[in-house]
Amino acid sequence: MNEKKLVEDLCLWYQKYGRDLPWRHSQDPYQIWISEIMLQQTQVETVIPYYQRFIQQFKTVKDLDEASEDAVFKCYQGLGYYRRAKHMKEAAHQIMTEHHGIFPTTYDDIHQLKGIGDYTASAIASIAFQLPYGVVDGNVLRILSRIYMIKENIATTQVHQSIQKKVNQLVQTANPSIFNQAMMDLGATICKPRHPLCHLCPVQQHCLAYATCQQDVLPISIKKKNYITGILSYQDRYVLIKQETGLLAHLYGFIQFDDESPYRYMEHLEETYHIDSSLKAYIQDIKHVFTHRIWKMHVYHFILHQKPDLPLYTLEEIAQLPISSAHLKVWQSFLKTQ
Ligand code: ADE
Repeated sequence: MNEKKLVEDLCLWYQKYGRDLPWRHSQDPYQIWISEIMLQQTQVETVIPYYQRFIQQFKTVKDLDEASEDAVFKCYQGLGYYRRAKHMKEAAHQIMTEHHGIFPTTYDDIHQLKGIGDYTASAIASIAFQLPYGVVDGNVLRILSRIYMIKENIATTQVHQSIQKKVNQLVQTANPSIFNQAMMDLGATICKPRHPLCHLCPVQQHCLAYATCQQDVLPISIKKKNYITGILSYQDRYVLIKQETGLLAHLYGFIQFDDESPYRYMEHLEETYHIDSSLKAYIQDIKHVFTHRIWKMHVYHFILHQKPDLPLYTLEEIAQLPISSAHLKVWQSFLKTQ
């Protein structure tokens, strides 16, 4: 693979076809920071008007530090994930007190600011200061899994880390700001999750997935989730609820939460359904594989102290209910212990 040419083709394409976005008109690290925070978990199109209003109203770090919390939240209203706005304000205060009001210029100092993780620190360091840090998000994982034909599960930490290493190498050979933003644009406009527009792709000739017609198969992304799955019994009956939405809509199943402990699960039951319970037994760990997801269910039996305001079924009734395959395994494993 000619990586130098790959990076060159990508960057030339960006310079010609990159999206014209408001934050790209600025070199001010403050403005770039605001844009990157807003772009966490939010689509570009949604962010644009919020970004413009915010920058108009709070022109500098000092303005943001001195603004009232309500004024900042008001400007953020409707964008969601309001913790970001709270962290922004705290970070503005950090910059004023720890950096004399000047936006920090190293990756480590940027990373120290409230609300900034690896991705955002790399984005700001590369875009505002041309430092060679590669950004890795879902777009970048997808693009590189196709170019290098990575057959492993990109949802694992190992694959993420190895792709991060690769991106850090590639970014060394380019203008980091251009390279990273070119990857963002390629992912958003060409190398899309479904039906990538390979005929328009500037790096088509470097792409192993394209060469072998695997672009619609890759990336392999299988997310593993851990759940506590509860068999809740009240006298000789059991709680099953009908799923209204999601993967298993219309099927019946047991109540499960992505908790780490059955004790936390009981607190969750109390908060969500006002159910008072006690832990009776550990049943088994059960794995269920869906197309793009793996559930690891840690199954426990809980006893309810009062009749719950939830549907209860006898053993005979349960045998007649349409139950998801995942929870049928759970039920069968429970029955074996009885
Ligand atoms: N997503 C996150 N950061 C971005 C940026 N600077 N431009 C476009 N999309 C982004």
